[in-house]
Amino acid sequence: MGAFRQNIAVDIGSSNIRICVERKGIVVEEPSVVAVRKQTGEVVAIGRKAKNMEGKTDRDVTMVRPISRGAISEYTVTVNMVGYFLDEAVKNPIRRLIRPDIVTAVHCDITNVGRRATERALREAGAGRIFFVDAPLAAAVGANLDVSAPNGKMVVSIGAEITDIAVISYDGIVAAASVPVGGRSFDEAIKTYFKKEYKMIIGDQTAERIKNDYACVYRDVRVQPFDVSAFELSGRLPVDRPIRPDELIRTLSDVAMPVVEGISRVLEMTPPELVSDIYQRGITLTGGGARLAGLDVFISKGTGIDTITADNPHKCVVNGCMKILNSMSNERKNELMNN
Ligand SMILES: Nc1ncnc2c1ncn2[C@@H]1O[C@H](COP(=O)(O)OP(=O)(O)OP(=O)(O)O)[C@@H](O)[C@H]1O
Ligand SMILES: [Mg+2]
Repeated sequence: MGAFRQNIAVDIGSSNIRICVERKGIVVEEPSVVAVRKQTGEVVAIGRKAKNMEGKTDRDVTMVRPISRGAISEYTVTVNMVGYFLDEAVKNPIRRLIRPDIVTAVHCDITNVGRRATERALREAGAGRIFFVDAPLAAAVGANLDVSAPNGKMVVSIGAEITDIAVISYDGIVAAASVPVGGRSFDEAIKTYFKKEYKMIIGDQTAERIKNDYACVYRDVRVQPFDVSAFELSGRLPVDRPIRPDELIRTLSDVAMPVVEGISRVLEMTPPELVSDIYQRGITLTGGGARLAGLDVFISKGTGIDTITADNPHKCVVNGCMKILNSMSNERKNELMNN
């Protein structure tokens, strides 16, 4: 029976959920948000539909982000969300009969309790056999790094709330650390900057748009001035304020600094031969947070090591998970299940 099961990769992040189906590619890429009615717990909308409702619904509807810092914080909502998107990904009702093999990635510092909760949630959402991969390993495979080669490679995977830093050699993680910084930390810093500097209140979505479309964390990477329209603390009407990208550099680099420090700590834990490989080969950035303009230059200057951002960095984890699962024989899967 196992040999007939479909292979599916699921990356359940604190900002986005992505599902990749064997031979089809990524079929789901949606915000990991669920709109829930407070009184009854009834699910009103899931994913993009829920995100679009944000700030526009009556007070009885609340937006739940069921994953935080890489772990499940709202169990039932997670099961609903994953089950809903698995149904979207595999329209065939046979999924309920022959449950798919599912691989998912977990952050370096996940606890046993966290891992068991993820396993149980996936099972309830319809998974058959479940396999875990360390997120940095999945990210490295998704970034097309040769993980099995006997040399050191460093992957820094920057999500919405967590950054995983890892050195990989011989298919395994040699040294790793997680830093509680991600794309959302930059959004928060931008909100604080506008409040302190201009007494302006901007929302989460505006902050994220400023970061994604106009800001940079290293000088001269982006130079085009832009306008931000928002309410002033004391005013009743929105005002337009012209902003230069370089004003935000100090704020954003303060947020990014712990990533550079984390990289140094991981290098200290790494055997010297592998460290010299990393100096030669450079650091690879993955994760949606790595798309912040100039972050590769910032990390390169901060560490003295060449740094490049992988193609489609936000898709590396799910693509890597899929490749890993597709490369496993049914015997290998059974072996892993029996361990
Ligand atoms: N063009 C961009 N520039 C800067 N940041 C971006 C860009 N596009 C996406 N991001 C940020 O990437 C983050 C989402 O990345 P990703 O989808 O990898 O996170 P996640 O896997 O859900 O989170 P985590 O792994 O921390 O649980 C968001 O904070 C988003 O704002
Ligand atoms: Mg992620």
